Amino acid sequence: MTVENDVSIQNLAGLLPPSFTLGVAAAAFQIEGALSADGRGPSGWDAFAEKPGAIIDGHSPAVACDHYNRSAEDVALMRELGVDSYRFSLSWPRIQPDGRGTFNEQGLDFYDRLIDQLLEAGISPMATLYHWDTPLPLEHSGGWMNRATAERFAEYCAAAGRRFGDRVAQWVTLNEPASVVLNGYALGTHAPGQDLLFEAFPAVHNQLLAHGLAVQALRAESVRGGIGVTNLHSPVRPATRKLRDRAAAAVFDIMLNRIYADPILNGRYPASLVFAKPWMRSFGRIPDKDLLTIHQPLDFYGLNYYQPVQVAAGQGPHENLAVPAEAMVRIPAHQVPFAEYGTTGFGWPVAPDHLGILLRELKDRYRDALPPLYITESGASFPEPEHVTGPIDDAQRISYLAGHLHHALEATAPGGIAEDVDLRGYYVWTLMDNFEWAAGYSQRFGLVHVDFDTLERTPKESFYWYRALSRARKLLAG
Ligand code: BGC
Repeated sequence: MTVENDVSIQNLAGLLPPSFTLGVAAAAFQIEGALSADGRGPSGWDAFAEKPGAIIDGHSPAVACDHYNRSAEDVALMRELGVDSYRFSLSWPRIQPDGRGTFNEQGLDFYDRLIDQLLEAGISPMATLYHWDTPLPLEHSGGWMNRATAERFAEYCAAAGRRFGDRVAQWVTLNEPASVVLNGYALGTHAPGQDLLFEAFPAVHNQLLAHGLAVQALRAESVRGGIGVTNLHSPVRPATRKLRDRAAAAVFDIMLNRIYADPILNGRYPASLVFAKPWMRSFGRIPDKDLLTIHQPLDFYGLNYYQPVQVAAGQGPHENLAVPAEAMVRIPAHQVPFAEYGTTGFGWPVAPDHLGILLRELKDRYRDALPPLYITESGASFPEPEHVTGPIDDAQRISYLAGHLHHALEATAPGGIAEDVDLRGYYVWTLMDNFEWAAGYSQRFGLVHVDFDTLERTPKESFYWYRALSRARKLLAG
């Protein structure tokens, strides 16, 4: 479909540095199901998914991939795939049903088993502590709008560190605080479904604080693994060279990227541009000690990259949004589609070149403050059948993954545009088709097809392609 098809497995394998991690990623709420089994408490997402119209076609997360009951089968699939590492998330409401106080032994046991199964299969566990499933009682007391949630989060992280700290190789505190704020609190398309727009900033700060407190809590438990965080980065381009479009793009860059990365990596919020002032009015005064807490030394930085964003000034329709939000039309700038790129099932531009450019920009922006990087998510959905009889030929996904990995490796190789970036790994989003948040089961991102009637897993051609890559690099290494 594109030139990326020319990227051969041999070529890619040859570009992989010897200790580079090839992995797959997933998240508890998207795959586990078993929402009321064995003492798990409800999450904000359980409640949100029940609201009429919240999820496409009323799809329910109740069963998802039933991974809670099939983790052994799923780990066997990953062993066959030959990945070095699996990034999964711990479900806070499964481990601590009320979000405070008592821990649920059966929930802890589930992750004990999962981690042991992974280690037995020679797969290194990367555990994300928060991938969007806030315990419902905490959501009821304000969720991330309430500063106390950050303190509760640190207590839960300490317990996870105590229990799993001897075996987890890498810890990710938060997954994409930007998505939680934008979709969940500003636009209302994700849990908890609030459309506070610019008044949602406390949810930024409280999540960042939660990150800092979690790093401290894990260190206090002397966990053996490295500690990092995962941010979504969407490089922003102005639609034209006009000053008003460039200003709108700069404000979007702050909103999407910099208000999350700057405090974590530099210990300060981006100097608020004149244009951004009205957008940032709910920020209030930030205590310096909070910024010190947020600015923890990290062992690595997780980067999720899906798409660049093109922005023009003025109100307008927001195309290529996963779920168009009513509230977006009130924003004095809008997204404009890229003419030059093909699109995924979600309508997102396929722009692998922007991954290399993003790595360059991150290094320019954060310099020595940028820790070693892992691309903790990269992948795409395409229209695919609900039922299959064998491996489907998902050539577009292979092209997508090959293209993104290739651009990342080439950019960071000697002589590449981001050769000074220490890139250590790439995690495909995702192992298997799953509950894609507000899009329910309508967007399939997996290397493995899941039939949501029978729960049967069937590897796609992309699974065999990734396996061949992993094998080729092992052969090359001798
Ligand atoms: C999230 C995943 C999600 C993926 C595709 C990422 O922002 O971390 O949970 O499934 O995007 O939408």
